[in-house]
Amino acid sequence: MAYLNDHYFKLKAGYLFPEIARRVRAFSDEHPDLGKALVRCGIGDVTEPLPAAVIEAMHRAVDELAHRETFRGYGPEQGYEFLRHAIAENDYRKLGMDIADDEIFVSDGSKCDCGNILDIFAHQNRIAVVDPVYPVYVDTNVMTGHTGPADEFGAYEGLVYLPCTKANGFVPEIPKQRVDLIYLCFPNNPTGSVATRQQLQVWVEYALDSGAIILYDAAYEAYIVDPAIPHSIYEISGARDCAIEFRSFSKNGGFTGVRCGFTVLPKSMAALTSAGEKKKLHPLWNRRFSTKFNGVSYPVQRGAEAIYSEKGRQQVRTLVSHYLGNARILAESLRSTGLEVFGGQNAPYLWVAAPSGYSSWQVFDKILRDLQVVVTPGAGFGAQGEGYFRVSAFNSRQNAQEAARRFKELRW
Ligand code: MLT
Repeated sequence: MAYLNDHYFKLKAGYLFPEIARRVRAFSDEHPDLGKALVRCGIGDVTEPLPAAVIEAMHRAVDELAHRETFRGYGPEQGYEFLRHAIAENDYRKLGMDIADDEIFVSDGSKCDCGNILDIFAHQNRIAVVDPVYPVYVDTNVMTGHTGPADEFGAYEGLVYLPCTKANGFVPEIPKQRVDLIYLCFPNNPTGSVATRQQLQVWVEYALDSGAIILYDAAYEAYIVDPAIPHSIYEISGARDCAIEFRSFSKNGGFTGVRCGFTVLPKSMAALTSAGEKKKLHPLWNRRFSTKFNGVSYPVQRGAEAIYSEKGRQQVRTLVSHYLGNARILAESLRSTGLEVFGGQNAPYLWVAAPSGYSSWQVFDKILRDLQVVVTPGAGFGAQGEGYFRVSAFNSRQNAQEAARRFKELRW
C-alpha cells in the first residue's frame, strides 16, 4: 500500500477560511431567514469588476487565439517578455530599483509562490514567521515537513514566531536566535500595519549580516498612500542580495479569480549547499518554473500588462480608493462603538481589539449571530491574534455601509 505525507496530519483544523465558511454555513442552515442578510467582511476577496483596460486587453488576446496567424500555444514558463518587461520597468526601474526583466517570474498568484518557493530551500533552515501570520506561510512549511507538531495554542515546534503586538506597532523585532528564512508581509495581512524604511533597513542589515533570506510578501503594496512608506523591499539598499519579493495582481487589478502574480528573484542572491558551497538561487527557481509550471495563460498576461497602461493605472487607482474608502467607513463605525481599530489606512484590512473577556472566536460568533456580519477571528492567524478580529474592506460600497450601520448596534 502507498504511504501518505504524514506532515499533513499536523495541520490544525483546516485552512482558516474553509473553517469560517463551515461555521457560516452552519449558521445559515440553522437560521435560513437571517442567513440571507449576511454581509461578508471575512475573506479578503475583491468584489468590483476588472478594470475596463484589462477587459479590453483580454478580449483582444482571446481574438488573437481565434486565428492561426496569431494563435499561441505554450508560452514561456516564466512569463511573456512583454509582461516581465512591463513589470520590471514600471514597478522597479522607473522607481530607481535595479531589477532586470529576467528577474521577474510571472505566476498564477503570490499565495502559490509563497508556498512553491520552499522547493528551492533545504530542510535544515530555521524559519521565522510573524505572529499573527498569513496562514499560508506556516501551513506550507508544515506540509513540507519543516516543523514538528503544533502545541495547544497552534504554534508549531521548530518555527520561530516573531510577535507583532500593539506595543511594537505590529512590526516584528529581530529575533534573539539565528534564523535563515524570514517571512515579512507589508502592508500586513492581517493587521493592516506598514513598515517604515528604517524598520525594513534593520531587517535587511540583519539578513545581510547573518546570511538569512527575507521572503517579502508585498501583495498589498498598491494600498500604500503614505509617501514615506516603501512599496518594495528593493527600495532598501542591500535587499537585492537578501530578499525575494512576491507581488500579486489580485488586490490591485482585482485578479483574485483571474490569477496572476509574480516573484522577483535577483540574480545576485545566493545560499549554501549542504556541502557549504555558495550557489545562486535564480537558476534553481528558473528550473522549478520550467519543470513544474507551464506559464499563465496568454489572455491573462495581456490583461496584467494592461494594468500598466495609462488607462489601467487610473482604473486601478479608482479601485484601490474604493476599497480604502470602505476601510474608512468601517473603521469610523467600529471606533464609534468604543473599539480600538488598527490598520486600514495603507491597507485593506482593519485589525480590531475585542472587548476584554472575549476570545476572538467568541467575537466572530457574536458578530455573526447578532449582526449577521462575517469577520475573521484573529486567533486564526496565530496566538498573538487572540483578542482581535479582522475586518476586510473588500466589498461593495453598499455592503460596507450596511456592515458599518450594523456595527453601530454592537452591544457587549
Ligand atoms: C485573506 O483573506 O487573508 C486573503 O484572501 C488572503 C489571500 O489573498 O489569499
